[in-house]
Amino acid sequence: MKRFLSSLLMLGLVLNLTGCMRDMQDQPKYKNLRGSDFFADGKSARDQEEGTIAQSQLRQDPHFFEGKVDGVDAVTFPMKVDRPLLERGRERYDIFCAACHGRTGEGNGMVVQRGFPTPPSYHIDRLKDAPAGYFYNVITNGFGRMYGYASEIEPRDRWAIVAYVRALQQSQNVDIKELTAKEREALDRPAVSEEAAHVPAHH
Ligand code: HEC
Repeated sequence: MKRFLSSLLMLGLVLNLTGCMRDMQDQPKYKNLRGSDFFADGKSARDQEEGTIAQSQLRQDPHFFEGKVDGVDAVTFPMKVDRPLLERGRERYDIFCAACHGRTGEGNGMVVQRGFPTPPSYHIDRLKDAPAGYFYNVITNGFGRMYGYASEIEPRDRWAIVAYVRALQQSQNVDIKELTAKEREALDRPAVSEEAAHVPAHH
């Protein structure tokens, strides 16, 4: 009797399990972007309710997300500026900005040489004096004829680019007295090797 009961139990379990798997295979759910005739607007995905915040959308830190401290452009960075950040910034800058602003920020990138409006050089006094948060906002929202990059560049990378732009600005304004003898010597060497310079140009 005991045996009979336990095999009944087993049978029940097995039936239950297969039933369960069937349910999971045929569950009433919507695939991404599939339409629905249940909702009046025909969309299966519901719009976000006004006043609600979805996971990962909580943006509580205005310094980090908006480049503002007490409502004005931040003069400081919301993270430590170190070598990895600068290297990330250089990489992102070369991808997203150099085509117009040039690799050194003069404003003479390839797209500009092909006819796009010329941006101002980063090395003019007004932009050297502009706070870090100002650059962050230009990247986020665009400026005049320049588009914003909010959808392409995430906040941390925008700050990395700002840090790199700051490094570019400094690189063009170094007092020669600050350089070591070795660094000065390197400045006197031609940028291209003698040999390369003597290869006749093809026109
Ligand atoms: C497609 C070309 C293009 C790209 C790419 C581009 N910019 Fe610009 N940028 C411009 C132009 C043109 C202006 C000048 C706009 C104007 O004055 O109407 C400008 C202006 C600026 C200014 C100066 C704003 C001021 O106060 O004068 C900054 C700072 C700047 N860009 C930063 C960036 C950064 C950082 C990136 C990369 C994330 C970037 N730009 C990508 C074309 C570009």
